[in-house]
Amino acid sequence: MMLQDKVAVIYGAGGAIGGAVARAFGSEGARLFLTGRHRAPVEIVAKDIVSAGGYAEAAEIDALDEEAVDRHLRYAAGMTGRVDISFNAVGIPNTELEGMPLAELDAGAFSLPITTYTTSYFLTARLAARHMVPNKSGVIMTVTALHSRTGIPMAGGYGPAMAAKEALTRGLSAELAPQGIRVVGLRPQGMPDTRTMKEFFESRAKVSGMTWDRWLEFGASRTHPRRLMTLEEMANMAVFLASDKASGMTGTTVNLTMGSMDD
Ligand SMILES: NC(=O)c1ccc[n+]([C@@H]2O[C@H](COP(=O)([O-])OP(=O)(O)OC[C@H]3O[C@@H](n4cnc5c(N)ncnc54)[C@H](OP(=O)(O)O)[C@@H]3O)[C@@H](O)[C@H]2O)c1
Repeated sequence: MMLQDKVAVIYGAGGAIGGAVARAFGSEGARLFLTGRHRAPVEIVAKDIVSAGGYAEAAEIDALDEEAVDRHLRYAAGMTGRVDISFNAVGIPNTELEGMPLAELDAGAFSLPITTYTTSYFLTARLAARHMVPNKSGVIMTVTALHSRTGIPMAGGYGPAMAAKEALTRGLSAELAPQGIRVVGLRPQGMPDTRTMKEFFESRAKVSGMTWDRWLEFGASRTHPRRLMTLEEMANMAVFLASDKASGMTGTTVNLTMGSMDD
């Protein structure tokens, strides 16, 4: 198993990406401390992992609450002796962020995704690093979107937020890699089996005039294999990046857009 006995903490574990990554980590032998803003969806993921023979605990933690994140990490480290992987999969519903032209957006709505995503990633990474540095080992991970690297209309501050997270991945790595800690991100394109992708479509449906099926075809047509990635494929990549097999990779965000966006 690629993550046998690794201790992983996941933020936003009740969401599509956090849940898929948790299940994939669990099936590779990781011991999981799963968190989310609301306990119920996280509990479902934890129960599935335990039923499959894995180890998972659920906790209600707001990933913007420094004290709560710190307390939870101390608990996980106290139970297991270490923290090996921190994965921030927190996401704000697109309906709150997108669908408005930049010229009409007010400053508060523009900066909401920037402050939320960067602060949450900063806090969870910084606090995890404090447990990893003494062990000279650990992996800090997060997820971004192709908005970080390409102009997409009606996306408000989401693109700048994703670009900032990728910059933070590089900065964290520059400081932490000499101490044995890798920092890597994943940049998947929209995955059709997520609510996020449906919300993204709905915020543009009126303007684009496309149906859901046509929208998916359009997204797929831009990739090299002419199809969009599944959650399972993204989670498998997360397993590899979290594992010691990826020991040569840090300070980067892996392009999982299957050719629709060049590096
Ligand atoms: N889905 C895709 O196809 C895709 C592709 C590329 C990038 N992304 C990006 O990846 C991230 C996650 O996407 P997703 O599809 O997994 O979204 P999701 O299904 O909406 O999950 C996001 C999770 O984050 C939790 N959350 C939000 N704020 C939180 C906070 N302050 N503290 C703790 N948990 C919090 C939510 O919990 P509650 O619901 O309880 O608030 C939810 O469980 C987003 O940034 C998204 O834009 C997604």
